[in-house]
Amino acid sequence: MIDYCEIHGDVIRTARVVLRPWSYWDITAALSIYGSPAVAHWLEPEMSLVTDRGSMADILADWVEESAAAVPPIGRWAVTVPSSAGAGDVVGGAALLPFGPDGQDLQIASQLQPASWGKGLATEAGHALAHYAFSQGAVELFAVARPHNRRAAKLAERVGMEGVGESDKYAARELQVYRLVQADLDLPAGGVLIKPPETGL
Ligand SMILES: CC(C)(COP(=O)(O)OP(=O)(O)OC[C@H]1O[C@@H](n2cnc3c(N)ncnc32)[C@H](O)[C@@H]1OP(=O)(O)O)[C@@H](O)C(=O)NCCC(=O)NCCS
Repeated sequence: MIDYCEIHGDVIRTARVVLRPWSYWDITAALSIYGSPAVAHWLEPEMSLVTDRGSMADILADWVEESAAAVPPIGRWAVTVPSSAGAGDVVGGAALLPFGPDGQDLQIASQLQPASWGKGLATEAGHALAHYAFSQGAVELFAVARPHNRRAAKLAERVGMEGVGESDKYAARELQVYRLVQADLDLPAGGVLIKPPETGL
């Protein structure tokens, strides 16, 4: 459950996090996530450990361009928390991506830098992104987790997803599959507010 969710175009806010599109300038923060072995361990082989700034910059450039060209709700977001500097600190990443052999399913995925684990930020970001997906016409969302990825499994359950078993439909290995329909997503106490896109971020 989250307190509120505001959707301004592709910027999504809750009480504690703001999801906004990745920028070319997020290299250092993105490396604290995707350059962390504790995160990359669970993403491989789909995404390998990012070991240097040049590789991270290339990946960010792809994500920025892909997201700008994508049809909502498809996209990739930086998960930020308020900072004294005002722009927000990037603590994680989240994505809504086509998924499955024919790309017919919609996957919700998230990652946090390890220093930000255990605070409920991924749960809050996951709720917010699910509200965004349904506001854009998604019918159902799927998440996958490798066996023994306890944090990913708990995250899916906290967002209200239902475990629907293991499948090798999505990767070369068996993955735990979770499914969410809109009826199973908690409405924030303060509702979901949809506003026109923000400018000047
Ligand atoms: C999956 C991942 C994002 C989950 O991160 P997480 O920090 O465990 O999840 P949350 O941010 O929702 O935090 C939940 C924890 O914070 C605690 N918490 C503290 N304050 C909280 C609050 N206000 N609200 C909710 N939970 C809170 C919860 O009790 C829970 O504790 P637990 O770890 O003892 O169960 C993170 O482990 C990760 O990046 N893993 C590697 C990548 C990955 O596997 N991604 C998933 C597949 S794409």
